[in-house]
Amino acid sequence: MMRPSLAIVLVVLACTQSRDEKRQYAAGVAAFDTVRAVLQHPRCQNCHPAGDAPLQGDKGRVHAMNVQRGPNGYGAAAAGCTTCHGVVNPPASYGPRVPPGVPDGWHMPGPEEKLVFVGRTPRALCEQVKDEKRNGGKDMKALREHLNTSLVTWGWGPGNGRNPVTTPYATFVAAWERWAAAGAPCPA
Ligand code: HEC
Ligand code: HEC
Repeated sequence: MMRPSLAIVLVVLACTQSRDEKRQYAAGVAAFDTVRAVLQHPRCQNCHPAGDAPLQGDKGRVHAMNVQRGPNGYGAAAAGCTTCHGVVNPPASYGPRVPPGVPDGWHMPGPEEKLVFVGRTPRALCEQVKDEKRNGGKDMKALREHLNTSLVTWGWGPGNGRNPVTTPYATFVAAWERWAAAGAPCPA
């Protein structure tokens, strides 16, 4: 038979472990809320709509000129995104209402994996973002690397009078890493 003192030690250990797990889960879920607020900021979700046209501005109105997602996210053949969107934002002297640009080639997700951020509940958004079947086959490492691409970093330098993402970039990345380190838990 187990000595009573040993049994107590084991019970205490088990409790501490599950308490640590709960704490890590809660910290991960809290970190995801910071991530979610960024994903659903207009600078991000305008390219991640539920419909097949990108959105514009802080109110997320449908993109002018009947611009469409097209067969691969780069627009319809006759109105490709990069016809208007260059590799950098136009100079400030051009004023507002000009098409922004990024070196990685301006486009939205293709029709097979739309990566919808608009209107998703926190839980649904979380499940989708980390699901390799729905996110373009990105594991957690590839997702983290994606945060360094110009499509994402543009949100903090959108130019031409647009409001940047409210949460600082470093805060966003740190929250993402805390969420990932906690096992990418999703809110209930
Ligand atoms: C110009 C359009 C555009 C903008 C603006 C944009 N994205 Fe994306 N995003 C894409 C495309 C396209 C993909 C699919 C991957 C690819 O083709 O590079 C993508 C994929 C992603 C993914 C990985 C897929 C997933 O859902 O798991 C994340 C995360 C992401 N974007 C976050 C952001 C964040 C954060 C912002 C704002 C700071 C942002 N995006 C702004 C076009 C955009
Ligand atoms: C005919 C030119 C043209 C084409 C083609 C075009 N755009 Fe635009 N786009 C613009 C202009 C101009 C603006 C700026 C409008 C404004 O700020 O009021 C803009 C703004 C945007 C914005 C808004 C950024 C923000 O957060 O406010 C997004 C997102 C966007 N375009 C995505 C796309 C995507 C994706 C494609 C291809 C599927 C595309 N655009 C094709 C001209 C174009």
